[in-house]
Amino acid sequence: MYKIAALPGDGTGPEVTVEAIKVRGAAAEAFGFKYEITDFDWGGDRYLATGNVLPEDAADQMRKFDAILLGAIGHPDVKPGILEKGILLKLRFDLDLYINLRPVKLYPGVETPLADKGPEQVDFVVVRENTEGLYTGAGGFLKKNTPDEIAIQESVNTRKGVDRCLRYAFEFTRKRDREKTLTLCGKTNVLTFAFDLWERAFNEIGEAEYPDIKRDYAHVDATCMWMVKNPEWFDVIVTDNMFGDIITDLGAMIQGGMGIAAGGNIHPGKVSMFEPIGGSAPKYTGQGVINPMAAIASMQMMLSELGEDAAAACVDKAIAYVASENLESMAAGRMGHSTSGVGDLVADAVAKLS
Ligand code: IPM
Ligand code: MN
Repeated sequence: MYKIAALPGDGTGPEVTVEAIKVRGAAAEAFGFKYEITDFDWGGDRYLATGNVLPEDAADQMRKFDAILLGAIGHPDVKPGILEKGILLKLRFDLDLYINLRPVKLYPGVETPLADKGPEQVDFVVVRENTEGLYTGAGGFLKKNTPDEIAIQESVNTRKGVDRCLRYAFEFTRKRDREKTLTLCGKTNVLTFAFDLWERAFNEIGEAEYPDIKRDYAHVDATCMWMVKNPEWFDVIVTDNMFGDIITDLGAMIQGGMGIAAGGNIHPGKVSMFEPIGGSAPKYTGQGVINPMAAIASMQMMLSELGEDAAAACVDKAIAYVASENLESMAAGRMGHSTSGVGDLVADAVAKLS
């Protein structure tokens, strides 16, 4: 019996979460596992009503679950940053979800803006460090609101934090068993402290523990270029928090858009949190036009993390089938089906393909 916490969140978050849970239901039926969902109302509306972003013991509450499914965070009436920092980043940090795993996978039949590229060429995974770098909040102002103001935002890179992220990435590359190539994405020519540490750790760990994995390196700017020009060069990319944030939005675009891009905030062996990487798209709220595929794909990643490999593989096949056979587009309002219609199609495909 899996205990799942659902945080549907803001805007279209609840609509896509329902569809992900629907598909989970179909997978549970087909593969004979049980689960129980508990809903939490954390998000913009609760904040506006109570003045609290999260209850004090939020992380402790989450630790009682096997996994968390997050819809989306972001409310038009709440100043940008409050909910993102107060809910999403707070849970990532408090639960020590040190990996942000973001597959960049173009499913068959899905449109990509890259000319002459298809599913064969766009299929790699980004392992983003998720608890350090520029995201720790280290730094501050001096002489704020004066002409001499100074703002410093520091990138924190601990050897332990980098090592555990790299080890995860090496293990993942080995398990993925494709090109067995791990690319470190950094900026060693300018960020000569932070990425010096990353590069040394990368080579030391790779040489000593993962001789079977080929190591490659690309600066972050070049990574962006290659992702567009030759995405087939990548198998697994490992990078820091900020660069990972940026390159995975680019990744989302080349895999067909935010309608399909999923991610997992992971601490191996502990409660992990899965979310579509796009936002809450408030302007589409309640219209039934948002694409739930990214939320469904996040649920798929959750199944995989929970060790339900057969169910995860089946949901992946179902997503591929529906994407290529049924959907006209991945974009909101242009799928050729409603939000719940897409959920139904994937749930039916799971039942058929299992
Ligand atoms: C993401 C988002 C978040 C991030 C924001 C909302 C804080 O962009 O999950 O990629 O920067 O990590
Ligand atoms: Mn982002």
